[in-house]
Amino acid sequence: MPDVRVVNLTKKFGDIVALDNVNLTVHDKEYFSLLGPSGCGKTTLLKLIAGLIEPDSGEIYIGDKRVDNVPPEDREIGFVFQTFALFPHMTVWENVNYGPKVKNFDEKESETIVHEVLELVKLHERLGAYPNELSGGMMQRIAVARALAAGAKILLLDEPLGQLDAKVRNEIRYEMRKMAKDLNLTAIHVTHDQSEAMSISDRIAVMKKGKIVQVGTPQELYMNPASLFVANFIGESNFLEGSVAEANNGELVIELRGGAKVHAFGKGLARDERAVVVIRPEVLTVEKPSYRGKNVLRGVVEKISFEGTFIRYVIRLESEDFVIVIKPSLTERWFDIGDSITLSFESEKAHIFAYPEAGLMEEISV
Ligand SMILES: Nc1ncnc2c1ncn2[C@@H]1O[C@H](COP(=O)(O)OP(=O)(O)OP(=O)(O)O)[C@@H](O)[C@H]1O
Ligand SMILES: [Mg+2]
Repeated sequence: MPDVRVVNLTKKFGDIVALDNVNLTVHDKEYFSLLGPSGCGKTTLLKLIAGLIEPDSGEIYIGDKRVDNVPPEDREIGFVFQTFALFPHMTVWENVNYGPKVKNFDEKESETIVHEVLELVKLHERLGAYPNELSGGMMQRIAVARALAAGAKILLLDEPLGQLDAKVRNEIRYEMRKMAKDLNLTAIHVTHDQSEAMSISDRIAVMKKGKIVQVGTPQELYMNPASLFVANFIGESNFLEGSVAEANNGELVIELRGGAKVHAFGKGLARDERAVVVIRPEVLTVEKPSYRGKNVLRGVVEKISFEGTFIRYVIRLESEDFVIVIKPSLTERWFDIGDSITLSFESEKAHIFAYPEAGLMEEISV
């Protein structure tokens, strides 16, 4: 089965640029997610790939074949909507048989196909049931079965878990991935839920305002966010503002607001330039006030919340900035609310960015 490739794809609705010159390759049999805040263009990109809407400019390829002029039903793509869009008055069998019927397959052939795909999604024993008699997870499998029976080799899933409650959602998100993998399908899964995308995807494209801002494996995005936006959208981060006090071949000393100096690595920043230091909450260690080291931030414990597997601390720094520190619950704890403490981190684990022109809050807001 082939790659899906979009080249310089742009789509406008009146004045709104829903997709702005997007380039993307999704590999054969990959489980790929489009992740981004509401309105960033995820559904628009899926609909363009499916052929449900036409681009203003750009190209779409499935394998080597350019498909922008191919009608949707001939693209071998199945679209699974958030609502699953099953026909409520039709049984499981009739829902799945819909594609073959519309395509005028002969009856014997359709029957074989429908049996096969219902076996594949393990719902053969429910072929007489109506959608309202099925669980959310089952409806989702029927929606996939219907797409497969209609000849889909590529699954486009638009918030396929969106209708389900949080607990069920967490359970069956892995099933979605497993089903695609077992059936050797390429899947493009749209979500605005970063933990969902992180836990099931081979790779993720993070989108913002009609553009793809970074593509990578979940680990790559988490460990090496390419921008402040991604550092904020994927996982949790502390953002500390400062300016470059020394710059030596990528080795930087940053003077933070409040006067603390920290060492970090970052290219492209010159002396006196404004900068933002990004530190993940689990990277900070909590030390006694007497601690002397290279990268230290002094402050007071403002809040402690026990969250099961981990404890979250809010620390008010001398600069009046707040930072979050996360530690496993079982870590030894010798301090309490109101205690003075010192935070420390390894230079390699901080990320440095130039201060954004639009302002920090504007840049990272979703
Ligand atoms: N048919 C349309 N007519 C006018 N504007 C549209 C249309 N479809 C999408 N848009 C606009 O294009 C932008 C991108 O919309 P899109 O539906 O792709 O976002 P999304 O990332 O899927 O968001 P959500 O997470 O809320 O589903 C939005 O500003 C939206 O209002
Ligand atoms: Mg959408």
